[in-house]
Amino acid sequence: MATDNAKKPPVEDYEYDTLTNERLIKDHDYDGIRELDNDLPTWWKWLFYITIVFSVVYMIRLWVFHSDDLVQEREFAIEMEEAAAKTPTDTKAAGEFQLVLLEDEASLASGKETWDKICAVCHLVDGGGLVGPNMTDNYWIHGDKLDQQFKIITNGVIEKGMIPYRDQLSEQKRLEVISYVMVKLQGTTPANPKEPQGDPY
Ligand code: HEC
Repeated sequence: MATDNAKKPPVEDYEYDTLTNERLIKDHDYDGIRELDNDLPTWWKWLFYITIVFSVVYMIRLWVFHSDDLVQEREFAIEMEEAAAKTPTDTKAAGEFQLVLLEDEASLASGKETWDKICAVCHLVDGGGLVGPNMTDNYWIHGDKLDQQFKIITNGVIEKGMIPYRDQLSEQKRLEVISYVMVKLQGTTPANPKEPQGDPY
């Protein structure tokens, strides 16, 4: 800086520091403390120009093209849609979880608990059936395979009155309760069995 200033002929409007020959702002004198009149650094000026260019591009995108990614509400909606698309809705996308019949007593006991508490309202505690079909016979509306029944518990059959338990019961709980049905209720003789529904397997 000092060398730059040294090359320039002193202009009347400026005063120069007697020791360093640096430019001082005229009339800025506070009890002998003087303020330097330095040029803005090149990097700072470029940063400033870039922000101007950026703001112009930004305003054009926001007001002229109405770009989606600049409006917070729309950006939020787009992200929510993407997240919803990624949420597993079937058993295949569910990672670690394995859909195999559980036969250990702890799982079956936990399954019975869910059955008695939630499912028995419509299917009865002994599985004889009420609003929902009989679970003890070998007739099934939606198939006798574990994955077919798991799907019914997960997605329900709303129009027929079977509730989806995707949100209410974890995958594990759904598997436990259907395992309980298959291992413990199938083949038993309930007090008041509902007439068979669906096809025999
Ligand atoms: C609000 C009454 C209701 C409740 C509660 C209910 N279900 Fe059902 N369920 C039904 C009805 C009605 C059907 C018959 C659906 C059809 O006709 O497609 C059914 C069908 C089913 C089927 C398919 C049967 C077949 O023949 O294919 C399974 C499996 C089943 N329910 C399991 C469960 C389990 C496990 C629970 C508890 C977590 C449960 N349900 C709770 C009413 C209910």
